[in-house]
Amino acid sequence: MSTPTQLSGGCPFLNPRRLFHDLAEARNSRELPHSDTFKGRVISRYDDIVQALHDPATFSNEPTVGTFPSPWREQFEGRVPNRGTLLGLDNPDHDRLRSSVNTFFMPRNLIRYEPWIREQAHAMVDKFVEDGRADLKTSFALPLPLKVIAHVVGLDTARSEWIGAALGFFMGPRDLYHPGTPDEKAKKLLDLHDYILEVMEERKHDRRDDLISHIWNERESGAVEMTDFEMLSMFPGLMLAGHETSSNLICMTLSHLLADPARYSAAQKDDDSRAEALEEILRYESAITGMKRLVTKDTELGGALPQGR
Ligand code: HEM
Repeated sequence: MSTPTQLSGGCPFLNPRRLFHDLAEARNSRELPHSDTFKGRVISRYDDIVQALHDPATFSNEPTVGTFPSPWREQFEGRVPNRGTLLGLDNPDHDRLRSSVNTFFMPRNLIRYEPWIREQAHAMVDKFVEDGRADLKTSFALPLPLKVIAHVVGLDTARSEWIGAALGFFMGPRDLYHPGTPDEKAKKLLDLHDYILEVMEERKHDRRDDLISHIWNERESGAVEMTDFEMLSMFPGLMLAGHETSSNLICMTLSHLLADPARYSAAQKDDDSRAEALEEILRYESAITGMKRLVTKDTELGGALPQGR
């Protein structure tokens, strides 16, 4: 295999303000440049990404979610599923477990939550007026998605702040918004898993309109086979993916729009202009800018020949 091209300008991908510049440089490079920061090659062209995502047998999810380090691995044994989220699984487990939530997350099925979400958003914004000031991240962009995802999963929304703090364990030192040391967060994470198990047990006999009940329905109908521990593993990762991304998206959108009053009022014209602005911001600056994959066998991608394990 040829020596991979190194990206120029010292160590790229370390400065978030230069990220899109670095990615553009990587896109224009003839091969797949090597990054010392990621200890791997950077795939940044659309077609190459689609090829890799459509071939999970060659581009494994194994490194996408890390394993718990000691001493937490031992503390969590049998109670918190290790690498236990869809994102870190390969087939056949990935598709089997994913099928338990597929129909639930269809947009036409999710629309029923809109009035409830609007109500929560209004209540939070009304509080800004009462207080006379607000920190957008901690008073709106973080608590709203947390409340929404807790509600959708079927947990008590009054506990959403506590749920956020427990999920903060997964964020490691990058978690600046939830209080507590890693040990305190680990304890909360264990308690969160115990709490989810309790709600799972309740919903087994008393179904409601929520994701936990939906998965029980799928299991009961024979549409999907999974153990209780596998079912438990679906929720924490999904709640993390479901609130961190939305929270970042709200902040990024508002920061772009508030910095440009003309753009702000153009986006605010009506529901269509708001939807368009949202679509554009998802394209313009994603809340997730990269995920790792492990190349399991020799293959060809983007003019390069990534070698397998
Ligand atoms: C701005 C919002 C969001 C963005 C930009 C985003 C982005 C992504 C990306 C890029 C992936 C694929 C990662 C990979 O395969 O390498 C992903 C996967 C996933 N996301 Fe999101 N996401 C968002 C919102 C959400 C929400 C609201 C939920 C849950 C309600 C969610 C749950 C998941 C789950 C469960 C996966 C794993 C799917 C699988 O492996 O089958 N995401 N997301």
